[in-house]
Amino acid sequence: MSRAASNLQIDSARLWGMIHETAQFGATPKGGVRRLTLSAEDKQVRDWFRKACEAAGLEVRVDALGSMFALRKGRDMTRPPVGLGSHLDTQPTGGKFDGVLGTLAALEVVRTLNDAGIETDAPICIVNWTNEEGSRFAPAMMASAAYVGDFTTDDILSRKDSQGVTVAEALDSIDYRGDAPVGSQKLGCFVELHIEQGPILEAEHKTVGVVDSGQGVLWYDGKITGFESHAGSTPMPLRRDALATLSEIVLAMERIAKKNGPNAVGTVGEAVIAKPSRNVIPGEVAFTVDCRSADDGIMNALDGDLRAAVAEIEARRKVEVKLDLIWRKPPTRFDAKLVDAVENAAGALGYSHRRITSGAGHDACNLSTKIPAAMVFIPCKDGVSHNELEDATQADCAAGANVLMHTVLALAGVAS
Ligand code: GLV
Ligand code: MN
Ligand code: MN
Repeated sequence: MSRAASNLQIDSARLWGMIHETAQFGATPKGGVRRLTLSAEDKQVRDWFRKACEAAGLEVRVDALGSMFALRKGRDMTRPPVGLGSHLDTQPTGGKFDGVLGTLAALEVVRTLNDAGIETDAPICIVNWTNEEGSRFAPAMMASAAYVGDFTTDDILSRKDSQGVTVAEALDSIDYRGDAPVGSQKLGCFVELHIEQGPILEAEHKTVGVVDSGQGVLWYDGKITGFESHAGSTPMPLRRDALATLSEIVLAMERIAKKNGPNAVGTVGEAVIAKPSRNVIPGEVAFTVDCRSADDGIMNALDGDLRAAVAEIEARRKVEVKLDLIWRKPPTRFDAKLVDAVENAAGALGYSHRRITSGAGHDACNLSTKIPAAMVFIPCKDGVSHNELEDATQADCAAGANVLMHTVLALAGVAS
């Protein structure tokens, strides 16, 4: 690598400026972001991103699920591009960094290469994946899953949000159903920068996490059917209370995750009473469960223990509980050579670093089943994420972007 390339640093202030500029699209009063996938706010940030990529000389294509691919030509266009990026959608009350950092750092890498006049051998392709978060449409990371062939495009297009709007209708409503067939933009490998979303790097005073693995995920949709009746006149022993049943399931989930721990977590994140009223015993409650582990055997144990606990509670309370496993994502092992490339870049740049497992799901995890993939983590304040208070420092964001850039340069190749 030439000296110019090996000494290259991204523009920290420019990256920080882009993160804060885009945080206006869906800004919440507490300093977070609400930018549900394929919403009006998502369209605003997508339009901004498309313009910024085009201004950086990139050719932007949109696939049939709305994922955006921005290509920077390489010297050897017979080589598949090195992919980098993340997502621009957020949780309903999300932060400014989850997904945004990896997508905008990818753009900052390209802007830095442009300014330095550096051409790479392989092309580079920045990706903004549709619906990473999974809070409007399930499952999470659906576009990258379709990209690697885990779902068909039509299956994903027909998924509905809680209002009955399909992915196809949502894409059309913001004019982001593109012509490129899903999977048609080939990538040779993929590298994603992200905040850790957990407490380890901060506690150990490490600047960079070299991500070598990721937890597997189990998602369930649940429905409890009991019996609605008068809250004043129905004696306690005669009740079939759907919400009281859910309370037991929530506590069972907590107990099961702890029993299978420390490498297991379990959460009931959504609960909706069908016809809520202060003086009616709830007769129908819908809920969701999210369980995770980096170990396939522990995932099986979580599934078995949860089903057994639900069956016992259902029989004892004389209610009906439907528990559907709607998504199973196996644990991820990232590509050894790419993980080494991230580690080498962090070391060469002089950043303190350690290997780490991702607790969260990421598009890179889906891609790793078909192409070499890896991730770079930086610390976030108090390990907090999926919260408006999510925070990271400018210096750590810049460090992560520098590691991303030097990993990409090593993978794409630059003339010496
Ligand atoms: C994505 O944010 C996930 O890990 O659920
Ligand atoms: Mn994310
Ligand atoms: Mn997230």
